[in-house]
Amino acid sequence: MLLGVSGGIAAYKAAELTRRLRAEGVEVRVVMTRAAQAFVGPLTFQALSGNPVRLDILDPTAEAGMDHIELARWADLVLVAPASADVMARLAAGMADDLLTTLALASQAPLALAPAMNQRMWQHPATQANARLLTDRGVRLLGPAAGAQACGETGPGRMLEPGEIVAALLEPRPASPLAGRRILVTAGPTREALDPVRYLGNRSSGRMGYALAQALVTRGAQVVLVSGPTALAVPLGLERIQVESALEMRAAVMARIADQDIFVAAAAVADYRVADPAPHKIKKGQPELTLRLVRNPDILAEVAARPDPPFTVGFAAETERVEEEARAKLQAKSLDMIAANQVGGATGGFEREDNALTVIRRDGRLNQLPLMPKAHLAEALTDLIAETYATYLATQGA
Ligand code: PMT
Repeated sequence: MLLGVSGGIAAYKAAELTRRLRAEGVEVRVVMTRAAQAFVGPLTFQALSGNPVRLDILDPTAEAGMDHIELARWADLVLVAPASADVMARLAAGMADDLLTTLALASQAPLALAPAMNQRMWQHPATQANARLLTDRGVRLLGPAAGAQACGETGPGRMLEPGEIVAALLEPRPASPLAGRRILVTAGPTREALDPVRYLGNRSSGRMGYALAQALVTRGAQVVLVSGPTALAVPLGLERIQVESALEMRAAVMARIADQDIFVAAAAVADYRVADPAPHKIKKGQPELTLRLVRNPDILAEVAARPDPPFTVGFAAETERVEEEARAKLQAKSLDMIAANQVGGATGGFEREDNALTVIRRDGRLNQLPLMPKAHLAEALTDLIAETYATYLATQGA
């Protein structure tokens, strides 16, 4: 999570917020505005988050490590706490005049704000209009609370307590049929070793699966994410298990599948692995090299074929005849749902920020989810999963 700290006396509470988020297993990177630094020193946040604190958009040392666009891509959630009236106004106007507002503009991650300001400032029509504009755009406002203020006045404008913010961010949406369900999600690529230093891989970034895992968490599911190698941060509120090869992914899935309610296979699992990986680095002596490949187990098919299978959602990555191939996979693997995407084209699919899905259910119903950011697509797919799962439970008499 990217935590933006703006100026105000409540900035000191952001230190406790960082500590609590870390205690929940959330990786936190902090960005401070210039005004925030007048209230709390960056070192406090560095020590509490365990990561360097970013202050300036033109910081050459930071740009050499993780530049601001990379940081915007890395974030799975941008939380600004405290969010001053000034920051809210700049966010509403779409300004990018410091690092925090630039990141908020460059990131596709959901944005949440915990406003904190004098009660008159909060109630001013300008701030209220900005708050409305931001919420209309999908920004989540956490608070403010009402009460005694540091300035001696009483009214709305107090930042929520750190514990309340953490609870609001991690709390399930109780109405969802997915609330409390155990869901195992696979994501990312697999790597099949050729020798100790080389592998066969694929272009999956993990974004689709991670976004889905995050959306399932927000519905209150208990999510385990089995992930191939990716550069993505662990989404909030779930357990991530990292694996490399298809065989490792299979072992991690099978060790946990027995008590799962739902299985979602978004990983791009290698269909073949090298039969005999070389124990030492292969030398470039011969002009040609032949690799013998053997089939990997199909994890999704194996899960769906269990005597008492979970509700199974597969993916299909196709370069042609997307719907036809997806229907064939749905039937052949006996799945409850399949989400098919066109890969290898000019838009969507692997690596990219956006994707589109054709979702087909066991009863043949089809939904087209058009091209959009993967985070939004994951929300839409999660809604379809929730709806289909509710029907499935009803037919099972659960
Ligand atoms: O990670 P991103 O860059 O965001 O890209 C997203 C994605 C394109 C990887 C994702 O949307 C996607 O399509 N994932 C499935 C990719 C894939 O392997 O598709 P497939 O048609 O080859 O496999 C069909 C299904 O069987 C998939 O659910 C796959 O996870 C599963 N499978 C495949 C082979 C295997 N050995 N074991 C499996 O479980």
